[in-house]
Amino acid sequence: MIPFRLREDIGIDLGTATCIVYVKGREIVVSEPSVVAVDAETEQIICDGEEARRMLGKAPASIRVIRPLRDGVISQYDLTLRMLKRYIKTACPFHIFKPRVIVCVPSNITDVEERSVVDAARNAGAGQVYLIEEPVAAAIGAGIDISESRGTMVVDIGGGTTDIAVISLDSVVVSESLKVAGDKLNDAIKDYVRKKYNLLIGDQTAEDVKIRIGNVYRQQKPEYYRVRGRCLARGIPREITLSSNEMLEAMLSPITAIVDAICTVIERTPPGMIEDIMTSGIVLTGGGALLKGLSELISEITGIKTVVAPNPVNCVAIGTGKSLDNINTFNESSVNLARMRLPKY
Ligand SMILES: Nc1ncnc2c1ncn2[C@@H]1O[C@H](COP(=O)(O)OP(=O)(O)OP(=O)(O)O)[C@@H](O)[C@H]1O
Ligand SMILES: [Mg+2]
Repeated sequence: MIPFRLREDIGIDLGTATCIVYVKGREIVVSEPSVVAVDAETEQIICDGEEARRMLGKAPASIRVIRPLRDGVISQYDLTLRMLKRYIKTACPFHIFKPRVIVCVPSNITDVEERSVVDAARNAGAGQVYLIEEPVAAAIGAGIDISESRGTMVVDIGGGTTDIAVISLDSVVVSESLKVAGDKLNDAIKDYVRKKYNLLIGDQTAEDVKIRIGNVYRQQKPEYYRVRGRCLARGIPREITLSSNEMLEAMLSPITAIVDAICTVIERTPPGMIEDIMTSGIVLTGGGALLKGLSELISEITGIKTVVAPNPVNCVAIGTGKSLDNINTFNESSVNLARMRLPKY
């Protein structure tokens, strides 16, 4: 039974792929794909979350299935607002005062994008809105004590953005956010299959390929996965078998961009903190961290031990939730924790 409280404090990981809501005292209460299905004529929402995700690429012309967030930020304000409204209502149906809400945002978010998140959360039913940066939340969620004077490196690979940060003393010392993550890996698989096999596959098929046989490191035994698509030469359906051995080649460009960005952050890290990172290692969070062979590849290229955090998909939500304990010290409507940055190195 949901306890009655005068006011709830909630944390929201408003992700490109997944929206997760954490309520203080009850932990994760909503975890749904950030997808909305609307009636093409009336613009009324038909469904959202998992139900809408299942319609992606399969809906008739009368239904538009939309992902209202792109590259880590709100691209369709109205739909994001309506989706958030429902999730906040589901998370805390009974209350007297509006909830205080912490939302996490990518590290290089612009002022306009930041304002859009604050407005959406407020119009969706939040009383006060506070923001924290995604890699900071990811680090807290991964169980790292960010208040220590010890550099820790976190790489959060989501659907839309990869956020890389070195954190020490509650602040981000160096960070980088790039719009290359899970969605770009899917696009790369689609491109590869189109160019090599002259076959057009859908977004969901590319996602299935990545999850089933995606691997970016040397393997003993290859895995295979059969995919169906439309032959571009003849316009008829065709089936091919992909091997996990092809996956690094398929995803090479986005994987190189992610690894290069990690190397750039290491280069910009103050020398005194490099030793800390060498000792504690790089921690991977976000759904993209589950890509097979990625931690081994990063380890080999950087020479730094790289580990996947336990429960990587929920790290940002859990970290946002844990930071609710400090909500009384936060400034409203601006990014808290990690706003103070040292100069670039
Ligand atoms: N087993 C897996 N292997 C590879 N990728 C995976 C796996 N499981 C999930 N993913 C990918 O993780 C991504 C979603 O991760 P996550 O939920 O952390 O993103 P998000 O927080 O919604 O996005 P962002 O933080 O960029 O706004 C998707 O691109 C999905 O394909
Ligand atoms: Mg995320």
